[in-house]
Amino acid sequence: MAVGEKVYWDNRMAFVLAAIGSAIGLGNIWRFPYMCYKYGGGSFLVAYLVALLVAGLPLLILEFSLGQKIGGSAPASLGKVSKNFAWVGWMAIIVGFFITTYYSVIMSWAANYFVHSFTLAWGNDPKTFFYTNVLGLSDGILKIGSPRLPLLIGLAIVWLWIVLSIWKGARTVSKVVYVTVTLPWLILIVLVIGGLTLPGAFDGIKYYLTPDWKALLNAELWQAAFTQIFFSLSVGFGVMIAYASFLKPNSDIVNNAFIVGLSNCATAFVGGFAVFSAIGYYAQLQGVSVADVMNSGPELAFVTYPAIINHLPFAPLMGILFFVMLLTLAIDSAFSLVEAVVAGIMDTFGIGRTKTNIFVAVLAFAIGVIYTTTAGLYWLDLVDHYMTFFGLFAVAFLEAVAVGWFFDTEKLRKKINSTSQMHIGKWWVISVKFIVPLSALILLIITVIGRINASYGGYPRVSELFGGWIPILIAVLGGIVLGKFTIKMIRKDNVIVDTQDAPPSI
Ligand code: PHE
Repeated sequence: MAVGEKVYWDNRMAFVLAAIGSAIGLGNIWRFPYMCYKYGGGSFLVAYLVALLVAGLPLLILEFSLGQKIGGSAPASLGKVSKNFAWVGWMAIIVGFFITTYYSVIMSWAANYFVHSFTLAWGNDPKTFFYTNVLGLSDGILKIGSPRLPLLIGLAIVWLWIVLSIWKGARTVSKVVYVTVTLPWLILIVLVIGGLTLPGAFDGIKYYLTPDWKALLNAELWQAAFTQIFFSLSVGFGVMIAYASFLKPNSDIVNNAFIVGLSNCATAFVGGFAVFSAIGYYAQLQGVSVADVMNSGPELAFVTYPAIINHLPFAPLMGILFFVMLLTLAIDSAFSLVEAVVAGIMDTFGIGRTKTNIFVAVLAFAIGVIYTTTAGLYWLDLVDHYMTFFGLFAVAFLEAVAVGWFFDTEKLRKKINSTSQMHIGKWWVISVKFIVPLSALILLIITVIGRINASYGGYPRVSELFGGWIPILIAVLGGIVLGKFTIKMIRKDNVIVDTQDAPPSI
């Protein structure tokens, strides 16, 4: 394939599956249930749905239209909206890149657990197994220690898998997603049905679905719900923009966005039944209440679930299914993040795909080594916080401001409607102009104030500097520098769009 040759999705289904695959990931089966658990079940669900409708879907439609109607990867399309915003596209990509560096490590844990499932290696004490045997966790973030070999091997395999999955871009992804989207769903159904038949399952489900209306007055719950929606829909990382740029002209936007958004949330919702029924069962076994089963996020997949698996019929098989599900859920999210980076580099620098793929993978793998060390979990937690709370909100805010205030949103809306089965009304413009930027800005301010008052998770400030502020700085400064190249490229191709004009006709 010649450099710069445009590759499209095989068909509409391939695009929808790829976008769904990106959206559905560890966020649905792991982060979502844990957030529900932490914020009192049903109340979180309510906030989550509100966040989906007022900000998530409008932003998804925005990103699809940026990629397809305006054209190109995140920096290219935002640069065409206004040359002052090309850097935001790069910032999104760099934030996404940092996420990939640890997302792939969680996949390496899952790959290790896949192997451990055959013998139920975690035995009767999955907690010690996870923290001591698998992670070898040190007693502080600054006690870094050496990388754990099995985690490192797992990471190498995961990266090989990622690179092969995007080898020829949309063309390869088009094929891969048929398996990576459908297989985890099939397994999920088995786990839901299996889970619901367990004794005590009902208590778990009750906890999951009963809203505590008072909890809705808690600002932190709303913050968590909005973060979860942005993270889960993969918006704010340049992923959906890049994916939409491989759509043929005149493709549908609105319907596709609704299909992707709703199936993502439906998966999280259904997944909740598998997780909470199992938690209910476990609570009954232990003779404790559902609220007392877990105390930290990662424990859900790597401690609580293994503990539950021990008691299930066909335990090793259940373990294998669970971890295959996690891996196949995660792989298409991971490679979508990588694809966004690759698309940005290719677009701007005209470098060939193979070289770019390998370059990105090697760099991400090298950075990922830090999370395979004995302090890895702490660093992962820290970087995750900064990327999802700062990076994501900042990008969502800037992206919406760029299009909402520096572009003719009304014309863009008409343009979107002209190729979409379902039409969007003025509410979309209102959301892009006001609701998305305002909610993202408020969340950003809350986070910044929180971080000024105290370091995240009580980590020493110096680690916060390296795991938080420096990566953010890299995203901003790197964005600004790379953005200049993007502008040059856009000028050269002479495709800059007048800010008051509609996007070029396609
Ligand atoms: N949406 C994915 C999940 O829920 C994570 C992700 C974020 C993927 C951003 C791509 C981009 O796990």
